Amino acid sequence: MTSKQRVLSTQEENVLAAVKEGALHPDDARRTQERRAKNRVRGLNHHAYYARDVEQTRQFYEDVLEMPMTVFLTIPDEVFSGDPLPYCHFFFEMGDGSAIAFFDYPAFHDGKATFRAPSVYDHHIALQVNSDEDLKHFQAKLEAARIKYSYIDHGAFHSVYFEDPNGLNLELCSVPPVGEEFGYRAAKIAHDELKNWQKIRATVRRS
Ligand SMILES: [Fe+2]
Repeated sequence: MTSKQRVLSTQEENVLAAVKEGALHPDDARRTQERRAKNRVRGLNHHAYYARDVEQTRQFYEDVLEMPMTVFLTIPDEVFSGDPLPYCHFFFEMGDGSAIAFFDYPAFHDGKATFRAPSVYDHHIALQVNSDEDLKHFQAKLEAARIKYSYIDHGAFHSVYFEDPNGLNLELCSVPPVGEEFGYRAAKIAHDELKNWQKIRATVRRS
């Protein structure tokens, strides 16, 4: 595995320093809860991707990531056109009831992804675990399964990056106590940071 402490941006350093200095308002946690409570979009139901191989995918999600397969649908017809093209759609459950789902659809992609993201910057899914101990537990399981991964300490969260058997970029992350407070503080300056980013991106050298 590779492991490193990522160099943090000035914004991240400032937010982390503010957290350590106790510069947060005591109402920040409550405001965050209220903001989330009134959001009509309640959460991720599922993320779906193609499966190269149904059984290999089941083994990875159930045996390595310990996510139980709770739904397996065999569907006789294409859902939009009604064409008689059977497929299956199956779901691996996470602790909040959301799921990572897959299709095995021979008529559309028989073992080949329609798209495959070449890097985490193109696409990835981050799955949260409860603690650094749980993150270490999964690092050991990835090693036992001979799956290469990278560990990166982002300060406000700790991440392990790897691929599933279908080439899907995954991240497992744990959020230390400082990460919760980082979130409260970051929300306050997010819109200013967006404006600032527009200036920075104009200066970026393109390869
Ligand atoms: Fe991420």
